[in-house]
Amino acid sequence: MDTIFSGIQPSGIPTIGNYIGAMQQFISLQDDYNCYYCVVDEHAITVPQDRLKLREQTLSLAALYLAVGLDPKKATIFIQSEVAAHAEAAWIVQCNTTIGELERMTQFKDKSQKNGQTSVSAALLTYPPLMVADIILYGSNLVPVGEDQKQHLELTRDFVDRFNTRYGSEKQPILVKPEVKIPKHGARIMSLQDPTKKMSKSDTNAKGYISMLDDPTVIRKKIKSAVTDSSGKIEYDIENKPGISNLLTIFSAMTGQSVTELAEHYANSGYGQFKTDLGEAIVAVLEPIQQRQKELLASDELDLILNEGAEKANKVAKKTLQRMRNAVGLGRKGRLSL
Ligand code: TYM
Repeated sequence: MDTIFSGIQPSGIPTIGNYIGAMQQFISLQDDYNCYYCVVDEHAITVPQDRLKLREQTLSLAALYLAVGLDPKKATIFIQSEVAAHAEAAWIVQCNTTIGELERMTQFKDKSQKNGQTSVSAALLTYPPLMVADIILYGSNLVPVGEDQKQHLELTRDFVDRFNTRYGSEKQPILVKPEVKIPKHGARIMSLQDPTKKMSKSDTNAKGYISMLDDPTVIRKKIKSAVTDSSGKIEYDIENKPGISNLLTIFSAMTGQSVTELAEHYANSGYGQFKTDLGEAIVAVLEPIQQRQKELLASDELDLILNEGAEKANKVAKKTLQRMRNAVGLGRKGRLSL
């Protein structure tokens, strides 16, 4: 069985962008793959976080993984920082990655330009190697992500080739080269307030995103105030009607109906009715998830699942790390770090 790894940062509450671009894929893949789904808290501290809030968001996200339908019997669900191999492997990855490669990452360019290079952490530059480490430690064949992570996956693939050439041989590669899996629709859900910008959980304008834990009344309101255009026609046209096209994509992901079907159905309706129905469709998906998440957070079950997940992940990750340590010549032969 092929292996899958993916993760989400607990740097805020996940949005419907994370749900559509990532989580929906996680669910549909869990039956056919050996899956590792991680709450990547080490990634979240590349920007300052309130420690208590970070812990709360970490557990909240783990509970959301389960609430959306991930089954711990099928998928290993765990917290990144509870598996020490990630940070150690990331160091080896950094030592085999150039600054030039990292400076080319668009996410680094955007964030460092916005905040000024002197005020962002060094980890904002070196965080893709941590992501590479996450993926390679489990021998992942496939990584389901949204469009914005594509470049990081290319970096991972280049790294694997380089590492295998430097330290292994073509016949005996040390690491597995992963493929990226991006959904056909919904790979880039856009902001509700500026449909040319990606929907993001760290947007300073909360009207731009719908968080998975938003109250139903808030969800309805945010959809009502979503930016559209003045033509009043419901059709899918990314170039000229990015707002309504984005809403159609969200509607489709929430209901399973195709964008074409929806556009046909609403061809003679106004934006008002369309938005009311879309609001209800989102509430219908999120409300039961929110209810389950609350129950999970109040039970002991979550801790047990995360303990088991960390234990399982540790075993697998340590084996790969050992191969990497041997490849580069760290420590004494056969002796693993603690
Ligand atoms: P993060 O936490 O920013 O996002 C988590 C996942 O959600 C997807 N996503 C979106 N998809 C569609 N539309 C959007 N507006 C949208 N916003 C986010 C992301 O593409 C991602 O799949 N570095 C990663 C987390 C990570 C990871 C990994 C992922 C760390 N290690 C290893 C895969 C494998 C990140 O910051 O994702």
